[in-house]
Amino acid sequence: MSQYPCVPLSTLDENQRNDLVSLHLRTMPTLLTELGNKFVEKYYKYGIFQQQAIGFAAIADDESVVGWVFGTANPSAINKNLANPLFWFLKEMGALLLQKPQVIRSLFLSLLPNHNNDIPLGQIELTYIGAHPDFQQQGIGNILIRQFISEARKMGFSQVSLSVETDNPTAINLYKKNGFIITATFTEGSYHRHRMVLDLE
Ligand SMILES: CC(C)(COP(=O)(O)OP(=O)(O)OC[C@H]1O[C@@H](n2cnc3c(N)ncnc32)[C@H](O)[C@@H]1OP(=O)(O)O)[C@@H](O)C(=O)NCCC(=O)NCCS
Repeated sequence: MSQYPCVPLSTLDENQRNDLVSLHLRTMPTLLTELGNKFVEKYYKYGIFQQQAIGFAAIADDESVVGWVFGTANPSAINKNLANPLFWFLKEMGALLLQKPQVIRSLFLSLLPNHNNDIPLGQIELTYIGAHPDFQQQGIGNILIRQFISEARKMGFSQVSLSVETDNPTAINLYKKNGFIITATFTEGSYHRHRMVLDLE
């Protein structure tokens, strides 16, 4: 069992919030990371105070963040907020189009209607979980996911869902060990993913 205490993301101070953003950029090879640190900062700044969100961080002895989990029942509200204010967003998109055109393509493909993006009522989506590379395999992933599941149950959700790259056996093992089952496998842009679901009832 991990010796690192778990605290709600909403209680992190500014330094710890910066740790969280750095950790996300370092460990999470997703579209949000490709968009860059301004978008990751914006995602958590809004997301961690969203009412239907759950987030915890694992804290080391030096008070730094060495792992985190985050999820929401309303991911589209967070995603919409990323495009605010519109002028800022368009400027960022213009810069990305020049620097990383493939990211704009992935973003466009992820916005196409896709039934795998729908969050049914009563379900919360675990969107991100990660542990600092120097602190992996010490039980942090397990403790964070269990805390997330317990909080989801307390909040009255009936299911936790998530999607995971099909070539990420470490994460898939973690999810299976905690009761998740694969319910679909799909392609979204350049990502090949399993959808996994845990029933809480
Ligand atoms: C996935 C991740 C969060 C696991 O965190 P962790 O703190 O290393 O995990 P734990 O030490 O708590 O181990 C939990 C379980 O994960 C699985 N696991 C951990 N390391 C593993 C490895 N090297 N190979 C296979 N399975 C592994 C095991 O099922 C393990 O349970 P066990 O120790 O009882 O066998 C971590 O590897 C990580 O941050 N990866 C990069 C980010 C990422 O891929 N996140 C998921 C995106 S969907």
